[in-house]
Amino acid sequence: MVAYPAIKASNAAIDESTMPQVAVFVGGTSGIGKLTIKALVATGHSTRIYLVGRKSSEGRTKAFIEEQRSVNPKAEIVWIEGEVSLLADTKRICDLIKSKETCIDLLFLTAGYAQFWKLELTSEGHGIVQTLEYYSRMLFVEQLLPQLKRANAGRVISVAGGGLETTRIDLEDLDLKKNFSSFKGQPLYLTQNSLYMEQLADDNPDVSFIHTWPGFVDTGNLWRSVDRNSWMGWVLWLTLQPLISLLTYTDDEAGQRYLFQSTSAAFGGQGVDWHSKPGRNSYDRQANGLYLVNHRCDCTPNAKTMATLRKEARGKNWAHTQSVLGPYL
Ligand SMILES: NC(=O)c1ccc[n+]([C@@H]2O[C@H](COP(=O)([O-])OP(=O)(O)OC[C@H]3O[C@@H](n4cnc5c(N)ncnc54)[C@H](OP(=O)(O)O)[C@@H]3O)[C@@H](O)[C@H]2O)c1
Repeated sequence: MVAYPAIKASNAAIDESTMPQVAVFVGGTSGIGKLTIKALVATGHSTRIYLVGRKSSEGRTKAFIEEQRSVNPKAEIVWIEGEVSLLADTKRICDLIKSKETCIDLLFLTAGYAQFWKLELTSEGHGIVQTLEYYSRMLFVEQLLPQLKRANAGRVISVAGGGLETTRIDLEDLDLKKNFSSFKGQPLYLTQNSLYMEQLADDNPDVSFIHTWPGFVDTGNLWRSVDRNSWMGWVLWLTLQPLISLLTYTDDEAGQRYLFQSTSAAFGGQGVDWHSKPGRNSYDRQANGLYLVNHRCDCTPNAKTMATLRKEARGKNWAHTQSVLGPYL
């Protein structure tokens, strides 16, 4: 566990040279993304943040942006309205950002939620949650890669389940259209995040990649797809919700822990100097690459599982994903 005082000390050492000058947040209208924006702005340094969100969140997000302006006038937050559950709109959003920026220092991806019921498809024919948590996230990375590579220390953070990868995925059903069940979605989508990002990290060693698992942060994420009055709602309320309430970090600590992951050199690449235990990538090596990080900010390479997946699943998952993203690349 990286102790909270060490996290706060690292964040206090952020200066204009280690502050992400340009950041893109997808999912920053609520939860962990929003807490991280608050922590970034509170450093007092200059930054430009593109905050992507859907129309229904525009009103409250604009109020949040106003509030942040009074906290730090040097932080500019640019609202971009878009529907990231659609790949065509994700591409449009990326084109817009690329027309404005040549370098991007931080891409922070949090859109999504756990789906416990049936497989719901978008108008493009892909699972909504799989698109939010995987396809659209990887499309953002692919599209913005040239800008990330041009930055001094480009970094991608996907918040889902780094370190929890599993070999128990069906390679013949990578979109769960043949056989969806309530508990297959999250393990598959998080495993896909790690496999695709590891390939990208191998091919682009000048960009840092982090796939992080937040543990429990009480953002209300659990209730996005479950009716509290259904039997499933009652089961979750009696089992998971007490765990979340017990184990959650405070909002401030969660924000500081993700600010640390966004700026520290502990996870390869550049950033605020880190003199404590260095991070280890998904090959369990002390080198650049994909970092699988948990809620305690520890690296959890999940090396044995990743080695099996690398041999048996990474290529197939890459080909499947390319066939989905192809029209938008
Ligand atoms: N919180 C936890 O304890 C926890 C634990 C494990 C994994 N995770 C995963 O980590 C990620 C971040 O979690 P979080 O707690 O920060 O999530 P959150 O507060 O629920 O926010 C997720 C973001 O996703 C967006 N979103 C949700 N449904 C959408 C849709 N249909 N179309 C477009 N955008 C949509 C939300 O937009 P709006 O603001 O417009 O609603 C919000 O910006 C999620 O993928 C979550 O599943 C969270």
